[in-house]
Amino acid sequence: MKKLLAMFLSLGLVLSGCSSNPKHLPVVSVAQLVSHPSLNLIRDNFKKEMKKKGYEDGKNIIFHYADASGQVANLNSIINQFEDQQSDVIVAIATPTAQMAARAAKETPVVFSAVSDPVGAQLVRDIKHPGGNITGTSDEVQVDQILELAKEITPDMKTVGFLYNASETNSVSNLQKAKAYCKAHGLNLIEGTGKDITELTTSASVLTQKVDVILAPNDNTVASAMQSLSKTCIEAGIPFYVGADSMVKDGGLATVGIDYAQLGKETADMVVDILHGKKAGDIPVKVYKKDLYIYVNKKTLHALGLTLPESIQNNKKLQLMGED
Ligand code: TRP
Repeated sequence: MKKLLAMFLSLGLVLSGCSSNPKHLPVVSVAQLVSHPSLNLIRDNFKKEMKKKGYEDGKNIIFHYADASGQVANLNSIINQFEDQQSDVIVAIATPTAQMAARAAKETPVVFSAVSDPVGAQLVRDIKHPGGNITGTSDEVQVDQILELAKEITPDMKTVGFLYNASETNSVSNLQKAKAYCKAHGLNLIEGTGKDITELTTSASVLTQKVDVILAPNDNTVASAMQSLSKTCIEAGIPFYVGADSMVKDGGLATVGIDYAQLGKETADMVVDILHGKKAGDIPVKVYKKDLYIYVNKKTLHALGLTLPESIQNNKKLQLMGED
């Protein structure tokens, strides 16, 4: 009886698989942690690039997209579902997503996207030779360069407030880098943490009383709370340096960072290589250390009564954001 039931069940699965994918097209499933501007940009550029490479949903490929609404708990069921849908490749955008997707890598190749520290997040041991069934792109944060920029724009700073969500491994890695930089340059660092907008806003207000500038890395929770956080900092007259261009666009003062559209495209390149038979573990993780831009929000700059030093004004890598 049990056997019969198992047979029916497996038949049911096969049939449902057939009806949703009758042509047995390759399936690429993309999981995203939360809908903040940078992750959306990565996803959209991934989509665009796949289309450019000739992949059309329903025609020669099936795409599934899922968003965990910022809840790590949702990621588990999303990955389960992707496995049930017999995905050929799972794309995981942001660190918590990648950490959850990694367990599917036994069966399914995983391409992570925009993971700040893939080694620290225990996704790969060696960036150049990931091995196993996983690879991806990394938006490593150049914390030193951001703090150098901060020293140029706000040379009198002595105490840096570091704002982040302590449960994001990506941010913990950057905290260590910021601590090392501050120690080497005679600066103090004070931490402020929060796991949602409310907690982060409270932490930011507390920090503004104690520090000269605030620095947040490319933390997904901070990125989702930028409207409120940048307002808090501007009202307190505190320069808010951040870890991604989108966070500058959303009111942060400045950063040094990558072009995430490019990262989304290169995530697509990796997926296509895997669809063509390459092993994920043989593809080196792509880390962006060059081609960095200086992003400054003009509106925030003026609201704080600051001006850019000429060296930055004349820098060819300067990208101004925010209307005046
Ligand atoms: N690097 C982040 C991570 O490892 C994801 C990310 C990409 C991000 N772009 C961002 C976070 C912009 C904040 C802001 O999870």
